[in-house]
Amino acid sequence: MARTRCDRTPAWGALQAAYAASGQAFDVREAFEADAQRFARFSQEAPYVFADLSKNRIDAATEALLLDLARQSGVQEHRDGMFAGQKINHTEQREVWHVLLRNPPLAPVEYAGAAPEIVAAEQTKVHATLDAMLTYAEQLRADSRITDVVNIGIGGSDLGPQMAVLALDAFATTGKRLHFVSNVDGHELAAKLPHLKAETTVFLIASKTFTTIETMTNAASAKAWFLAQGGTDIGRHFAALTTNVAAANAFGITTTFGFWDWVGGRYSMWSAIGLPIAIAIGAAGFREFLAGAHAMDEHFRTAPLESNLPVRLGLLDVWYRNFHGYISRSIAPYHSALRRVPAYLQQLEMESNGKRVDAAGEALPFDTCPVLWGEPGTNGQHAYFQMLHQGTDVVPVEFIAVKKARHALPGHHPMLLANVLAQAQALMQGKVDAGGHKHFTGNRPSTFLLLDDLTPASLGALIALQEHRVFVSGSLWGINSFDQWGVELGKVLAKDIEPRLASGDVAGLDGSTAGLLARLRD
Ligand code: F6P
Repeated sequence: MARTRCDRTPAWGALQAAYAASGQAFDVREAFEADAQRFARFSQEAPYVFADLSKNRIDAATEALLLDLARQSGVQEHRDGMFAGQKINHTEQREVWHVLLRNPPLAPVEYAGAAPEIVAAEQTKVHATLDAMLTYAEQLRADSRITDVVNIGIGGSDLGPQMAVLALDAFATTGKRLHFVSNVDGHELAAKLPHLKAETTVFLIASKTFTTIETMTNAASAKAWFLAQGGTDIGRHFAALTTNVAAANAFGITTTFGFWDWVGGRYSMWSAIGLPIAIAIGAAGFREFLAGAHAMDEHFRTAPLESNLPVRLGLLDVWYRNFHGYISRSIAPYHSALRRVPAYLQQLEMESNGKRVDAAGEALPFDTCPVLWGEPGTNGQHAYFQMLHQGTDVVPVEFIAVKKARHALPGHHPMLLANVLAQAQALMQGKVDAGGHKHFTGNRPSTFLLLDDLTPASLGALIALQEHRVFVSGSLWGINSFDQWGVELGKVLAKDIEPRLASGDVAGLDGSTAGLLARLRD
């Protein structure tokens, strides 16, 4: 698979020249005045998502150069390699095949270059597990003796299911209370346990590896609590969602739903890790969620680059990070049910693309992943939007709005939509005030993603869109977006420090760590 790092393509130099000539000083307001078609030119439909990119600092000439960059870097070939099941996660020698989790059972797989018999074998495994997990979800939903389901997992084994269960609250037909425990901080689990009864609770232990210290610690405490409460039937009250079935069995769990090492943790909510979502919205709802994501997969796989939304967003991300030098992107979902989307996207993008070397291990001479952050609107407006409008840094904002409300309270939704439109407008338009304090520079870029309705399918499509845009920027930067070695060092050091908290041994520690450790033991 031919991949050329973005800075080694002819388009990179052309983009540098374009940035110096016109990109840096580009004014979106002038661009609208000059081009009556700007909204049409820079907005598009993708499955379940309408995207308006027109308030960004980009024109047709720049986008053409960015598309050249994508072609010259081999983004399409890299994408096809992912779909075909090549081991594009080469540092772990793994395929990156979460798209297969969303491929419908009977659909012929037409991934270019894929070995049909391998794909068919994987498809069979995927659908057998999906069917088993959805059967279990329906049984649990129908079991009136169970009132509470506690998902114990962290990172990709927590953020996705938690985000989606909240987002799809309007579709929750289960009547069960769903809880999420992730932090090794015992305050989290300890605060939940007094409200639970052993005989009416099911614990889902969600861990790809079944070795993650937070999850293992919480799972052990949950099991000890269950037994202390007189619980006996671990087989009925505990289930494991994991690729490491042997470790789950050794823990005493017999009900297990597996997945495979080609599913990255932050791409795993479409696998057995999605069980809490299926318990909340039911098997049919979960299949719609997968179908929405699949529709976006097909768009990414087949749409021409110039109308391929994940490609256009990923290119814009590179334009902003590497040419404009913007260091962060703010995510502003104007829907309270999407309140965990920023946290979810933080792991998705920052764990994928927060890398400083290319696929060959060579230090990169340019910047990569921005910081992602945000809160739902309109809350953010009364917190940090001041900085977005008048601060010294330019922060591209990604608004996410939903046309239809699923509540009946009069007046709220038009007010919400007016606010999201107004914020995007204010960022772009600005306001002239000679006095200074009331001056808004304007020309501050934003992207506007619009869903007609927040449903399992549209959420699936929205998240798949984000996965693929992260793929595109990571691909251009020439990095491996699918490993996460950066999380390892802290884990190793914590293992060394923990016994020192008991023993007081500070030998070999730096002065600060030794000083803090001593204070914690006082
Ligand atoms: O934070 C590192 C990480 O490995 C994530 O990539 C992953 O989602 C999380 O830990 C949890 O891992 P596991 O599902 O194996 O417990």
